Amino acid sequence: MDANGGVAICFFFAFCTRYVESQSYFRMGTNTNAAEAMQFLREYDREASGMCYRVTMSQWKFVTNITEYNRRRMVEELAISSKFERLSWRKAAAFDSTRLSDHQSRRQLAKIVQSSRAALSDEKFTELQQVISEMKEIYNTAKICPYGQKPYDPHIPRAPFQGSDFQDLPIQGYQLANQPYQHYQAYTESQEYPNYCDMQLDPEITRILAHSRIESELLYVWRSFRDKTGPKLKNRFMRYVQLANQAAVATGYRDAGDQMRSTYEDQTFRTSVEEIYNQVSPLYKQLFTYVRRRLVQRYGETSVRADGPIPSHLLGNMWAQNWKSIMDLVMPFPQAPNVDVTSEMLRQGFTPLRMFQMAEDFYTSMGMKPAPPEFWRSSMLARPPQRSVQCTASAWDFCNRIDYRIKQCTEVTMQDLISTHHEMAHIQYYLQYADQPQLFRDGANPAFHEAVANAATLSVYNLPHLQRIGLYQNKTHDPYEVSMNFLMTMALEKVAYLPFAFMVDQWRWSVFEEGVQNMNHRWWQMKLRYQGVIPPTPRSEADFDPGSKYHVISDQEYIKYFLATVLEFQIYEQLCLVSGHLGQLFECDIYRSREAGRLLSEIMQPGSSKSASDIIRTMTRGKTNRISPEALVKYFRPLELWLRVQNRDEPLIGWSSNYHDVALFSQQSDGTSNKAYSLRLLLILTICYNILK
Ligand SMILES: *[C@@H]1O[C@H](CO)[C@@H](O)[C@H](O)[C@H]1NC(C)=O
Ligand SMILES: *[C@@H]1O[C@H](CO)[C@@H](O)[C@H](O)[C@H]1NC(C)=O
Ligand SMILES: *[C@@H]1O[C@H](CO)[C@@H](O)[C@H](O)[C@H]1NC(C)=O
Ligand SMILES: [Zn+2]
Repeated sequence: MDANGGVAICFFFAFCTRYVESQSYFRMGTNTNAAEAMQFLREYDREASGMCYRVTMSQWKFVTNITEYNRRRMVEELAISSKFERLSWRKAAAFDSTRLSDHQSRRQLAKIVQSSRAALSDEKFTELQQVISEMKEIYNTAKICPYGQKPYDPHIPRAPFQGSDFQDLPIQGYQLANQPYQHYQAYTESQEYPNYCDMQLDPEITRILAHSRIESELLYVWRSFRDKTGPKLKNRFMRYVQLANQAAVATGYRDAGDQMRSTYEDQTFRTSVEEIYNQVSPLYKQLFTYVRRRLVQRYGETSVRADGPIPSHLLGNMWAQNWKSIMDLVMPFPQAPNVDVTSEMLRQGFTPLRMFQMAEDFYTSMGMKPAPPEFWRSSMLARPPQRSVQCTASAWDFCNRIDYRIKQCTEVTMQDLISTHHEMAHIQYYLQYADQPQLFRDGANPAFHEAVANAATLSVYNLPHLQRIGLYQNKTHDPYEVSMNFLMTMALEKVAYLPFAFMVDQWRWSVFEEGVQNMNHRWWQMKLRYQGVIPPTPRSEADFDPGSKYHVISDQEYIKYFLATVLEFQIYEQLCLVSGHLGQLFECDIYRSREAGRLLSEIMQPGSSKSASDIIRTMTRGKTNRISPEALVKYFRPLELWLRVQNRDEPLIGWSSNYHDVALFSQQSDGTSNKAYSLRLLLILTICYNILK
């Protein structure tokens, strides 16, 4: 069996899945007066910018100085802005934008109307916001007891708010698994953990999943976190689905998934996305197969079947979405180093300020814009003493064309050096599209901001660049071995992530489209089909495992992360091409390339005034107008070749599932109605397996 096996599975499943592609468009009013429309948009631009400034400022004040007063102010501003949104929506929806000749006005009106839920009645609109904020609250306050310890005192107060409301991007940060963890002691015991039931997802639970190698401890935290979130969230989520669908239908869409997809302006969006998944799937299956064998070596065949799916608690992450934490188990050449320049940065006396200056220099060296004085005056570049702040790194546009800031509790580490470059790329994007109207000061589609920021950091986090900026000296190690270790680190973060980032919205769209029955079963069905992972313990419809993912319950679409991960390599490749890079893609550094700077500016300047396909066409000099994974596959080609050699004796590239795998998530809480369903699934899987044989 070789890699073609993987292709056959995908082909088969692609055949099983049929979509009704989005043809719908929001409903329109009857007003065709162009002068009135232009007048409205001018006023809107001024008012929306002002509103955006006030909301952003109140949010900034809160997250950089967490007090009850600042929280109240923020909630007040959000309420005012939500009223403004509803009012503007009514005005905008009164126009028949198809009859306006001016393309840009048409586009602006569409942006106000298409993704809003303002078509709901006041009561329902408020209820929907309320339900979402309750779900976030439940998620952010979920706590579990330490493994193997008795609950002690759940009432001891802890550090305030650590929630993730203002998350930048869950996959960002190229943290290297630089410490070879060999915990044969339970991780909880090896640390000075508090002896009370106060462990949160971030940081305690996340750390345990990343570093513990004790299966029972991993299982315990995996299950406990789901017990503390899912059941409380399920009913609220069902109400959310109902209301979001009503809003979508009232706006003219088929369902809420249809409405979410409309921002991509692609009539065959679902097919396009599925095609991308199919193209990256052979690479994923090579990585998967190699990682599985290493897990069999570590945990034994009773835990991980040699040709089966992987139990999802063993991959170093709560959602099995990013596997970089198990680098110690899968490192291709343990005798060669894993690149980490942290100690060199410390030796050279780096400070957070110097790291940001370096990041600014990266962009100005390409002829791009420097950060304005306001940036250096008002940003929060390190954790301030004596006040409580929310530390997730993020880049801020205050919507007044003056004020741009970054908030990051920077520490002198390689990971934070990469992160400074990532956040500075967002600032660069803001600066480049500053002259656009407010509605166009955004990425070309929801994937662009992250894609651009990560494309830039691909150039920072590679050996040639680290050598150029004096942080990495060529040691005596075999360059091939160092490269394979490097590519493996990247693959554990980027390639392993793709099927997860793909399946989250496949599931969400199916719930919006087909309803809320068997939600948990369908979640695991898709996890198995696309990621090849199974739950480590039986699940039923009393559980609600999608609720363990913040973006699901906080109403944030997820497919953008899938597309961003693919697009970042596509953008990177184009930047490398114009900079005249020769050689391996993964070694390309665009530092000091004016040509790359020019192209990057061209991608950024239009904001969202042009469609993503227009911008991709410009970027590729007319070669294509679609997001394509070719560059990603090319980037990882050397690793893929190495993986193929490692996997040559494997019985199966990819995974086959059996009755027991499927039975893990086919139990009904009431013990009945789901049997026929799982039998059907089993039949499908058996057919697939036979085709493969
Ligand atoms: C933090 O916010 C409080 C208001 O709750 C304010 O009085 C205080 O000056 C702020 N501190 C800083 C350092 O901005
Ligand atoms: C590092 O040094 C080795 C020999 O010691 C050489 O073969 C290799 O090309 C060098 N790598 C880089 C990136 O300069
Ligand atoms: C991309 O280009 C093709 C033909 O070149 C065209 O048919 C298609 O509509 C374009 N796609 C988008 C999303 O504009
Ligand atoms: Zn980002």
